[in-house]
Amino acid sequence: MCGEIALRACFVTDEFQSALSAHCKYAVQVKLFQHLRDAGDDGVGSEELAEKTGTDVLLLERIMRHLIAMKMITFFKGRFFGTALSHGLAADNYQQSIDFCYDVARPAFNVFPEHFKKAGYRPRITFTNGPLQAAHGTDLPFFDWLVATPPHLEEFDAFMSAYRAGKADWCSPGFYPVEEQLIQGFDPSINEVLLVDVGGGRGHDTLSFSAQYAHPGKLVLQDREAVITSIQDKEALPFGCEAHDFFTPQPIQAARAYLLHSILHDWDDEAGIRILENLKPALKAGYSRVLLNEIVLSEENPMIAATSMDMMMMAHMGVRERTEVEWKAIIAKAGLRFVRIYDYPGVAESVIEAELL
Ligand SMILES: C[S@@+](CC[C@H](N)C(=O)[O-])C[C@H]1O[C@@H](n2cnc3c(N)ncnc32)[C@H](O)[C@@H]1O
Repeated sequence: MCGEIALRACFVTDEFQSALSAHCKYAVQVKLFQHLRDAGDDGVGSEELAEKTGTDVLLLERIMRHLIAMKMITFFKGRFFGTALSHGLAADNYQQSIDFCYDVARPAFNVFPEHFKKAGYRPRITFTNGPLQAAHGTDLPFFDWLVATPPHLEEFDAFMSAYRAGKADWCSPGFYPVEEQLIQGFDPSINEVLLVDVGGGRGHDTLSFSAQYAHPGKLVLQDREAVITSIQDKEALPFGCEAHDFFTPQPIQAARAYLLHSILHDWDDEAGIRILENLKPALKAGYSRVLLNEIVLSEENPMIAATSMDMMMMAHMGVRERTEVEWKAIIAKAGLRFVRIYDYPGVAESVIEAELL
């Protein structure tokens, strides 16, 4: 094996990465990235950092050396310095995202080979019988398990926000044409609601939309009771919040648009169709738009962000990301009309627009 291929093989065999992810989890425990960020341009020496992190100095130095080799931090004249990457990872959402990947996702991926083997490599992975359940000893589906394990519920929300951070939103200029498709033609006499963010988590999409557009209508965030209850200071938000189970009929009639961001990918086709069927009676023909903000898998040139999310879906929910053909089939089976797919360079998720037939 030549040098470059041998180096790549070490990445593939996880020799480098498994230590790195363990060190990132340690870094969260002892607030390592925060200490480096706070030290700023002065950096910090081994003894001082060992004291701040409560770590044996020799152990700390070994861990730091691997982080330096992995280009996470730097070392100069006897002092450690953070980098743009480690400073970014010091943010709360990345800290919780590291916890989610280490404590929830990694054990689920670890059982993949055994889980596949036991099923003769023809596993029938379902919501209640998949790698997540095998790894975490539960019969609960993913979202119920998250509610039953509150720290993981928080971490999952942080993971989703970190997954999206720094990437164009569905409503960023050049992506979905918000002005032309939503704002022009919006008629508050039909319903004063411009946008319903269905299953919008704690509202990061609604917040981003609100910051980017001087919108003429109301914005409403919907999610499960537990998620809506966990939102602090609702009065201060530039949108309304309400608990809604998307397997029941949509209560807001004839809004201009209903955004379902990473919703259908959590469910199999039958459940996805039921979610759309529960939305359908609320749609006004020729007016309401359904916006599915989802990964559309390319067969020829799949993006790593798309395929790794596909693997996350298999690990946690026993479901999958879909190709364009598969999306069109679900939309048609729910009795809706496919309109168009909007993409943005370098972003894994597209906007699939649909409407009433
Ligand atoms: C993958 S997250 C996507 C969140 C957000 N739309 C985003 O893109 O970041 C799926 C969301 O669906 C919500 N959810 C799951 N089951 C639900 C149900 N039956 N009714 C309403 N929301 C639900 C979850 O609480 C979670 O916020």
